[in-house]
Amino acid sequence: MPHLHIASFKAPAFPLSVDGVTFDYAAQNILHKDEKLIAATIEDKSFFLLLKTLPDKILLKADKISRPSPTHFVKRALLAFAKAADLNVLASNIDSAEINRHLNDKSALWSIRDFEQNFPTDREVRVEVGFGSGRHLLHQAECYPDILFIGIEIHKPSIEQVLKQINIRQLNNILLLDYDARLFLELVPSNLVGRIYVHFPVPWDKKPQRRVINTAFITESIRALYAGGKLELRTDSDNYFAYSFATFMALNQNHIEIFKNRALEISSKYEDRWRRMEKNIYDVVMHNEEISKPLETIAPFQFDITSVDSDTLETLNGKTLRFDEGFIHFERLYKTDGNHFLFRLSMGPYERPEHLYLSLNEQPHYLPAPPVRSWSNLHAHRQLQKALNG
Ligand SMILES: C[S@@+](CC[C@H](N)C(=O)[O-])C[C@H]1O[C@@H](n2cnc3c(N)ncnc32)[C@H](O)[C@@H]1O
Repeated sequence: MPHLHIASFKAPAFPLSVDGVTFDYAAQNILHKDEKLIAATIEDKSFFLLLKTLPDKILLKADKISRPSPTHFVKRALLAFAKAADLNVLASNIDSAEINRHLNDKSALWSIRDFEQNFPTDREVRVEVGFGSGRHLLHQAECYPDILFIGIEIHKPSIEQVLKQINIRQLNNILLLDYDARLFLELVPSNLVGRIYVHFPVPWDKKPQRRVINTAFITESIRALYAGGKLELRTDSDNYFAYSFATFMALNQNHIEIFKNRALEISSKYEDRWRRMEKNIYDVVMHNEEISKPLETIAPFQFDITSVDSDTLETLNGKTLRFDEGFIHFERLYKTDGNHFLFRLSMGPYERPEHLYLSLNEQPHYLPAPPVRSWSNLHAHRQLQKALNG
C-alpha cells in the first residue's frame, strides 16, 4: 500500500487544498499521542490519512477503514499532503508514473451507497461474489450483453485489474463493488437476480464465521433470485463442499444439484492451478423456486443527539457494548484542535460488523459513510444513540 516516511511533522493550518485534494482537519488519538488522522477529500471521496510516529521515523499512509478505491486516490492525497505540509520525505513507495489511463474512467466502479440509493432494476442481474482475476465475470459479460453483471470483491488490486479490463474491452454491462458480498445481498431487490456465482471462495477452515456461504447468505440469495434463478457454488475444498452441502440441506425445502469435476466454458486462475494438481472440483447449484416478498426498505439512519459530553465519550473509549443481535466496539477516540471528537467503531452483527468512524460535531454523522441499511445495523445504530445519550 502506498506510504511515505517523513522526518518530522508540524500540522499546517487547516483547511487547505492542494492539487485538487482538500484537507479539513487533523485529529489526535486521545490515548496514543503517536497517532493522528488527517481528513482528506478528493472529488466525492472522503477518507483519512494516518500519521504514525515510530521510533525512528514518521509513517504517513491511508487509514484502512476509510481507504478509497482505486489506490491512486490515496497516492494523490499522500503526495498532495506532503506538498501542503511541506514534509521532508525520507522514503516513498509511490511511483511518479501517471495513473493508468484505463483507470481514468471509474464509472463501472460503484459504491455500496450507489446500490443503496439506485439499485439498477431495468434488466436481469447476475452477481459474482469474489471475482478475483475476473476471467469468469468478463467472459460472462461478453457472452450476455443484455444482462447486467455485478462483480463484488474485497481485494483492491483485483478490482483495479478488472476495472482496467472493462475499460479496455469497452464493456458497459458490468458494475464492480468493493464490499463484503454478504452485506450487499441484503440490499438487492427481491426476485431480480438470475444467477449468483460463488467460485472458489476462501474456505476459512480456521475461522468458519468468515465464510461467504452461510444460512443468512442462502436465505438472502433465495429472496434476491427470481423463481428459476440459481446460486452456484464451485469449490476445490472437500471441507467447504461438505460444509456447504450440509448448510444447504439444513433448509426446510431446497432443490440442489451436485456436480463433480464439471467443466465450465471458462476456468479461473485458481481452477487451472487445482486442475494441474489433479484436485477434485465440486459444484453445488441451488435452484430457487420461490417468489419472494418485496424487500422492505429502511429509512436513512439519523442521530437524534445535539451534543455529547466528553466524559461520556472518554468512558466509552475502548469499551464493547453487547446486545442481542450484535455489538458496538468503541475502538479509538480522536480529538481535533477545534474540540471535535471522532470515534473509530466496529458495530453490527457479530458475523458481519461494519468498521467506520462517527464524527461528533454539531451534527453527528458516520464516515466515510453510514452503515448499510440492514435491520441488524439499524438495531446497532439505535444502541449507539442510547450509549451516546449517556
Ligand atoms: C480464492 S479467490 C477466488 C477468485 C475467483 N473467484 C477465481 O475463481 O479465481 C476468493 C476471492 O473472494 C474474495 N472474497 C473473500 N471474501 C469475500 C467477501 N466477503 N465478499 C467479496 N469478496 C470476497 C477474495 O478477495 C478473493 O479474491
